[in-house]
Amino acid sequence: MRLHARVVNVLAAVLSVACAPAFAATTYVKAGRLLDVESGRVLTDQAIVIEDTRITAIGPAASTPVPAGATVHDLSTKTVLPGLMDAHVHLHGDADLQGYRRLAISLPAAAIKGAKNARTTLLAGFTTVRVPGSPGYADVALRDAIANGEVEGPRILAGGIAIGITGGHCSDNNLLPAEYKAVGEGVADGPWAVRQKVRQDVKFGADFIKTCSTGGVLSKGTEVGAPQYSLEELKALVDEAHALGRKVASHAHGATGIRNALLAGVDSIEHASFIDDDGIALAKKHGAVLVMDIYNTEYILGEGEKAGFLPESLEKERRVGATQRENFRKAHQAGAIMGFGTDGGVYPHGLNARQFSRMVQFGMTPLQAIRSATVVNARLFGIDKDVGVLKPGYSADLIAVDGDPLQDVAVLENVGFVMKQGRVYKNTAKE
Ligand code: ARG
Repeated sequence: MRLHARVVNVLAAVLSVACAPAFAATTYVKAGRLLDVESGRVLTDQAIVIEDTRITAIGPAASTPVPAGATVHDLSTKTVLPGLMDAHVHLHGDADLQGYRRLAISLPAAAIKGAKNARTTLLAGFTTVRVPGSPGYADVALRDAIANGEVEGPRILAGGIAIGITGGHCSDNNLLPAEYKAVGEGVADGPWAVRQKVRQDVKFGADFIKTCSTGGVLSKGTEVGAPQYSLEELKALVDEAHALGRKVASHAHGATGIRNALLAGVDSIEHASFIDDDGIALAKKHGAVLVMDIYNTEYILGEGEKAGFLPESLEKERRVGATQRENFRKAHQAGAIMGFGTDGGVYPHGLNARQFSRMVQFGMTPLQAIRSATVVNARLFGIDKDVGVLKPGYSADLIAVDGDPLQDVAVLENVGFVMKQGRVYKNTAKE
């Protein structure tokens, strides 16, 4: 009996260590090449010292001794860089469940998918993601479960329930006829109704607010270019969100809806497909970030109805895709702030890094694309004192790849080593 109690105690101790989000430990990472995303320099033969979850020292390996008792990770044949960040990932949806198939996904099923997809995303090298809208605050629960070490996944910024107009792209859906009386959780019309939804999102744990100021590609019966919400409603939404200390991300494809959202003061425009010169100038003036998901189009058009995409969505995508890519080039060349966001879940989770090659194809240098996914997103997320670069005091969120991402950005599609908050989640060298 006594022995049994001891075994249980030992087990409990082991389990509490295994389940802890981070363990008290010193870690030493040898980096053959280290990409400084701020200066764009690649430093060779570097070392990073980590205490628990944070970087405490970083410098030439020759002058950075291994602390006593440290666990050493030898990445001397690899390029090390900060963990990647994606500003637009729907962890609770799967790519093969589009259109009417979505109706069959219960809230508990969506929550479970979220846990699966969070792990896949982390192992692909994305150590922080923003989830712009999820059913039933599943993103808040997932964020907390990950932070508590119950589930493996990236650090999450949760948008809670997206807020949109009746019949709009956000929250509502037009898949069912009237007799089903289906109304989306985030539907609000009028400034005060919109403010109430913002308050509700904040009450239930949202880190930022997601809204839609135009129709969308994948929503039934919405015109992708047409504005949703009046300027008055958007101003109320942003005013309330900012008063409560939350940033706002607005889905917007069409130029008028982009303009309205920017005039209202949103912090990021998602998609920005038909942005015009006026919109680009406004985005620059307001310091709003453009989060343009330019990988999506090839997946959507490649899969077509196989994945359940509605015929009208494919028709809309054919109008949006190529123009969005050209406007990405234009906005970037004009000096707009470009974030990195992919709309993961429209395409299969874990393929997020495929967008880097498209960003380079449409006008960025590899370094600029990597900065979008690190320092730029860190600032947009409001956590740039914590993540986005590798420096003493910062969270130990880092990844490693073979080859040189500044020469071939596609090497980021094969991340071999993932550390988040000092804990290693993937190390292909050891598998
Ligand atoms: N969620 C977006 C929408 O339905 C996806 C747009 C995808 N297409 C694109 N070219 N980015 O509007």
